[in-house]
Amino acid sequence: MSINFLRTQAYRAQGWQPAQSGATFSVTNPATGEEIAQVADIGPEEVAEAVAEAQTAFADWRQRSATDRAKLLHRWYELMVEHADALAELLTAEQGKPLAEAKGEILYGAGFIEWFAEEARRGYGDLIPGHQAGMRIMALRQPVGVVSAITPWNFPNAMITRKAGAALAAGCVMLVKPAEATPLSALALAVLAEKAGIPPGVFQVLPTSQPKAVGHVLTTHPGIRKVSFTGSTAVGKILLKQSADTVKRVSMELGGNAPFIVFDDADIPAAVEGAIASKYRNAGQTCVCANRILVQDAIYDEFVEALTEATRKLKVGPGMEDGVDIGPLINQAGLDKVERLVADAKARGAKVTTGGERHALGGTFYTPTVLEGATMAMELAQTEIFGPVAPVFRFHTEAEAIELANATPFGLAAYFYGRDLGRVWRVAEGLDYGMVGVNTGLISTPVAPFGGMKESGMGREGSKYGMDAYQEIKYVAMQVG
Ligand code: SIN
Repeated sequence: MSINFLRTQAYRAQGWQPAQSGATFSVTNPATGEEIAQVADIGPEEVAEAVAEAQTAFADWRQRSATDRAKLLHRWYELMVEHADALAELLTAEQGKPLAEAKGEILYGAGFIEWFAEEARRGYGDLIPGHQAGMRIMALRQPVGVVSAITPWNFPNAMITRKAGAALAAGCVMLVKPAEATPLSALALAVLAEKAGIPPGVFQVLPTSQPKAVGHVLTTHPGIRKVSFTGSTAVGKILLKQSADTVKRVSMELGGNAPFIVFDDADIPAAVEGAIASKYRNAGQTCVCANRILVQDAIYDEFVEALTEATRKLKVGPGMEDGVDIGPLINQAGLDKVERLVADAKARGAKVTTGGERHALGGTFYTPTVLEGATMAMELAQTEIFGPVAPVFRFHTEAEAIELANATPFGLAAYFYGRDLGRVWRVAEGLDYGMVGVNTGLISTPVAPFGGMKESGMGREGSKYGMDAYQEIKYVAMQVG
């Protein structure tokens, strides 16, 4: 069955809808700069209407049995897997990542829907021994209500399904505002939600080129009970403040500054492979990408040489081309930032061992880069690089590695390579990060609780904890005699 996934209208309770103003905005392919589509530009007033429709949908959805919700989610999952190739092509077209990686994201994203289809039936409560004779206390889990999801361009599929799977499984309904660069994958998800039989109004997608105005409604409207955001720490702080007036529940998956530590007893080829996987995934545009590679003094030169050699082998090009490892950066601002960070690092003494410049392909392509002699005084040590640049820092002792690793306001993901078991435990426990990869550079999976500490956010997504964010715990105290 071939499906037209290229939708350009919003997906609302009434079905596919243009913007009431008739306005549209352009979505372009970052590899070519060409326009892919003009998409409905939903305004703040329409969002308020969508909230009312969501409230109506919620009244029905919350009453359904968990088995019913699980079946519909399961069907949605199956359709995503069945159409993974077409979804991946669309994702590569609007986001730029290599096609194989895009397909990986679709399957990763589908995995959240599958996981929560299974978890839907496990929303257990508790029966608590009462505090006086004849008293019974029950703790129930109930859906929070209407949820708004504000999602990023770097994972246009999986960052939606990670939220929607949990919310819908818990009995909530969701309004999604996808990033303006990548609304097409979100709309494609709605195509399959509709086909799966998920009722109108339960999963709505509202594309817009007005993120501030629409985001304001999504964080202040009294009909919305929960906000789930994935994006930068700066924007997360604004959304948190906006959500405070109506005391909404919030989940915030914000920026990272991941340390990737290599101890002198590490398996160096494995550590290089892990660093490549972590650093260059999605051209370095993930919140969990290695941002600072910290290498122990005794193996520093050997590691830098091996990392440089492996980085030189990465093929840069349009994501649709065979064998490409690194696609374009999402836009000019992303490219400008990477250039600025590399220039600053060089000015402060870093040495480029490979790359260090725009790619010959032009556009927003940047050559994968390794920088030797990085220090914490460089701007790239304090901020998310979000590009294919690997700065390598030197450290001497375990204590220094932990101190350096923790010396930022962020606390999303951290990685380290080493074989001493005592050290593995000490370091894993000493890192102030929500997620720690030990002898692996890839940690993301639907079965694990994704989320950060410190300014990297609050709440956990995926895993058996993922539905908590969408449930209220209510207790009923019952005097039975
Ligand atoms: C992110 O970059 O925010 C998410 C990456 C992931 O889920 O692995």
